Order: sequence, then structure tokens, then C-alpha cells
Amino acid sequence: MPTLLRRIVPLASLAVVVTLSAGAGRAGSRHDNGLARTPPMGWNSWNHFGCNVSAALIRDVADAMAANGMRDAGYQYVTIDDCWQVARDSKGVIIADSTRFPGGIKPLADYVHSKGLKFGIYTDAGRRTCEGRPGSYGYEELDARTYASWGVDYVKIDWCNAEGIDARTQYAKLRDALLKSGRPIVFSICEWGSNRPWEWAPAVGNLWRTTGDIQDRWNSVLTIVNLSSQYWHVAKPGAWNDPDMLEVGNGGMTRDEYRSHFSLWAMMAAPLMAGNDVRTLADSTRQAAATRDILLNRDVIAVDQDSLGVQGMIVADNPPDLQVWVKPLADGSRAVLLFNRASVPSSMTADFGRIGLVAREARVRDLWAHKDTSGVTARYTATVPSHGVVMLRMWPAGD
Ligand code: GLA
Repeated sequence: MPTLLRRIVPLASLAVVVTLSAGAGRAGSRHDNGLARTPPMGWNSWNHFGCNVSAALIRDVADAMAANGMRDAGYQYVTIDDCWQVARDSKGVIIADSTRFPGGIKPLADYVHSKGLKFGIYTDAGRRTCEGRPGSYGYEELDARTYASWGVDYVKIDWCNAEGIDARTQYAKLRDALLKSGRPIVFSICEWGSNRPWEWAPAVGNLWRTTGDIQDRWNSVLTIVNLSSQYWHVAKPGAWNDPDMLEVGNGGMTRDEYRSHFSLWAMMAAPLMAGNDVRTLADSTRQAAATRDILLNRDVIAVDQDSLGVQGMIVADNPPDLQVWVKPLADGSRAVLLFNRASVPSSMTADFGRIGLVAREARVRDLWAHKDTSGVTARYTATVPSHGVVMLRMWPAGD
């Protein structure tokens, strides 16, 4: 099917689409660790801190998330990305950098748990991580056992230095090792979409990256959205497309662009892993307030976390810069995104027929303006800023 046709879903009946989506996703699935029934939420060190990670940083981040409203809004996993590990001991057990993580990882995981949060860690399916630290190849079961003994709740497994290794086989081996560890551990597959993970990863992990690394730039968001939106039909509770971690708050995009980034991730039922310095989220600066308004927008988070677990889809793309997205939700409402990719503001319309809303009228909530309108009939029209969105939730009414 040509890409454009695959991306734009004709919504004669959204109910049919939802049924097909759920059925296709479940068939043949062998991975069900009972976790990630909604897309995982949390924070990851990589986008802002790169290799500059330490126990002190992770503790401060956990403190901040418990105090600044993030934990209460649903952000759960505090994940250290690459560079925490330095070597293996004589028995092959992975060793953390003792300068940056004095006392090792277990006390740190305990600390994160004491804050009512969960703890995540990173490794690589190949011989070395992307930053050249020891990878898990050949140590799959030992590493899974080690993580379980530390109290790890989430493992992200990368794909650097994996030449000659079959992705599907190796990630299945890691899945089995994690299951065998006896501890419930969310499995995040990170092979950047290189081996068509949407075809096999739902039976292997809880989430899988669909693209290369995000960058803190508008074009990067667009590129990722163009790719990841194509695989909407594969997502389901326990198994999610992962368009990469958030850049919201890192400074490279405008307020409207960050709102779009966050809204699109919610529409795509994507994992919401904050990637900024959340220690400054409660600051009294304008930038911190803008970042808070985005990361803590509960209306938008509720769309992402909806229990129906259907990834939103593009239903209108005409002209190509003006996209209408729809995500059906468990209570019979629909999240609708009017997304203006153009460089000028534009009037855009959510037409009931186009978004599959079968009702005489609707109640509409604007999820960024936090405003409700009732008695809407046939269509809802709004002005959408350049590179911006109007995000709506529409409830059928008046039947
Ligand atoms: C890869 C991953 C990133 C990050 C880095 C760490 O590039 O895709 O998300 O984990 O490695 O080295």
C-alpha cells in the first residue's frame, strides 16, 4: 500500500478500525508480562545529561519528581541511560562506575522506590553500548538476574555494536532472560526501527523504538511522526510503538512546537519519558512555567494513558501541512488533534463524519485552553498556530 494511503485512515466506521486493530495486535502474541498496560511514563537521563550521570543526579531527580507534581501526574520510571557501567568482575557481573555511583546501584534503586517511583536502567543487546561500555551479549541471564536483585523495574536495551547478531533472536533471548529473573521488568527495545520491530516486537517487548534518536529540533519531531504514525495498528496494551523520549523543556523548540510534540506523543499512545532537567521544573522562571504547563497537562496525559490503548491515526491530510488526527478513547469519546505543520496560522475543522463521531451533537473540550463547549453540531473549527495544535476531546451527546 502506498505510504500516504497507509497513513491516512478512511474512517467509514471507526468501530471497525478499533476492532481490527485490537484483533491484529493480539494474534500470535507470546509476550505478556502483564506490564505497561498503558504507555510507560517517567524520566530518562539521556536527552539532557548524556553520559553525565551519577547517583546524586538520580536522587535529585527522584526528589524533584516526587515534589513537583510529576509523580502524581503519572510519571513513574526514573531511568539511567548509558554510562553508568564500567566493567565486569571476575564472575562476569556488571559493575557500576564507583566514583559516580558509590555503593552501587541497589541503594539507588531503593532510594527511588522510597520516593514512590520505579527504577529503570540501560544496557545494549550487542557487545558494547553506544558509549562503549560493556553490553549484555553473552551475559543475558546474568544481567537480568543482577538487575532483578537490584530492584530494577524497567530495562532499555540498545542496539549498538551488534554486527552479525539477529535482532529478533537476540531480543527474544533477552525477553526470556528477563522473564526468568522472576521480577516484573518492563522491556524497552531500542533498535531504532532498523529491523522492522513493529512486525515482531509486540511478542517480545513492552515498547520498541520506531526511529533513530530524537533531537531537540522541530524537523526531528516531524521526521519521527511521519515514520511512527504508520504503525498505529500494531500498538495495544502492553506493547507500544516508541517514537523516543521527550525533548520538552530542553530549549530547542518554541512553546507551540513543544505543545505539538507532547500532543502528538499522546495521540500516538507513546511512552512519555521526560528528557529534560526536571530539577528545575518548579522554578519561578517563564520557561519552567511553560514546561510545567506541558508536562503536567492532565487532559493530554489522559489521552495518552487511555485504557482502550489504541494509537491515534491521521484521518485527513489535505493539504499535507494540515493534519487531522483521531484517537478513540475508552469512554466513547474521541481525542482529535488539529495539527498545523505550515509556517502560517490556519483555520482547521474537525468534521464529525471525518473523525467518525456518530452523534447529532457533541461536547468539546479544548485540552490546551481547558475550555468546554457544549451543543456543537456537525463540525468544530478553530484557528491553529503555525507548527501548533488545537487538541480536543469530543464526547457524543444529544442522542
Ligand atoms: C542510542 C539510543 C539513545 C541513547 C544512546 C546512549 O543512541 O538510541 O536513546 O540510549 O544510545 O548511548
